[in-house]
Amino acid sequence: MIQVRKLVKVYPGPVAALQGIDIGVPTGMYGLVGPNGAGKTTFMRILAGLLEPTSGEVTVGGVDVVKDPMAVRKQLGYLPQDFGFYPNLTGEKMLDFLLRMKGVEAPGGRKKLVAELLDRVNLTFAAKRKLKGFSGGMRQRLGIAQAIAGDPRLVIVDEPTAGLDPEERQRFYRILAELAVGRTVLLSTHIVEDVAVLCPRFAVISRGRLVAETTPTDARNELAGRLYEGEGTDEELAPVRSRYPVTQSILVEGRNRIRIHVGRGEPPPGFAPVEPTLEDAYMMIVTSGNGTGAGPAGPFDRRDEAVGAAVPGSSDSEGRAGS
Ligand SMILES: Nc1ncnc2c1ncn2[C@@H]1O[C@H](COP(=O)(O)OP(=O)(O)O)[C@@H](O)[C@H]1O
Ligand SMILES: [Mg+2]
Repeated sequence: MIQVRKLVKVYPGPVAALQGIDIGVPTGMYGLVGPNGAGKTTFMRILAGLLEPTSGEVTVGGVDVVKDPMAVRKQLGYLPQDFGFYPNLTGEKMLDFLLRMKGVEAPGGRKKLVAELLDRVNLTFAAKRKLKGFSGGMRQRLGIAQAIAGDPRLVIVDEPTAGLDPEERQRFYRILAELAVGRTVLLSTHIVEDVAVLCPRFAVISRGRLVAETTPTDARNELAGRLYEGEGTDEELAPVRSRYPVTQSILVEGRNRIRIHVGRGEPPPGFAPVEPTLEDAYMMIVTSGNGTGAGPAGPFDRRDEAVGAAVPGSSDSEGRAGS
């Protein structure tokens, strides 16, 4: 559905926000995960035809986004990260306004379309309520309603779950999962749970580079048998932290617990094997992929290969050479 080749974006400054992204996104739900500042919004704005790349190729459904942004926008729904609402408009008035701005055709009348869309996102009850009384989850659902108007083949949603409470997030997951039936939904997030719940495939970007493209199962399997958990005081854990990559650091009943990746050999005394979660896998990918030197090299670290001979079939080797 989406093909991206050697995508580079340099903002004035200069800030190299995207440093050569190569990726193909199939139909269905697809996650784009990365820490703040990784380049997610930049990437999505380029896909949506709202921002011109510095160089590289992007096609959506075979249409070149750079050459023909208008054609792409017609088959695309977009929920931006910061969506502006008018607080004094009601849900239905706001949606009607957004549909007019977008130029959505409504053969059966716009009133009917507004009602249908509100129903799709479970907001019929809030049609006459003012936006200022909407919860975060209700606002995001209204944003989805405008994004899916006209039944686009591609829906791009930029960090839609940030700021939602757990209950709203669950409800929003259901709506997104329904959307992904028969179309492509590209979801960006810094919340790993979003990917675990929704995405059969995902990519990780960090500092403008693609550092992994995989499935949640494969990502976890990469760590299988090598992940250990233990607890102790800060002083007791300090030597462990400096020796092994730490994938999670949590307090349980007032005590420090850490999960570590033991590449080879025995774990430290008192550490027991645990099943890797996607959170562990993500932490390993991000810390070994961005070259911060946080802990020794982990299983996702292919810096040596990237700097040496190019690895055949490794889509990220090129983008990471010299990092
Ligand atoms: N308009 C801009 N001008 C200059 N730098 C920008 C601009 N927009 C984003 N950036 C920078 O580009 C990088 C990527 O930003 P962004 O795409 O917003 O990342 P993310 O969405 O993953 O948080 C960051 O370093 C950010 O500060
Ligand atoms: Mg962003």
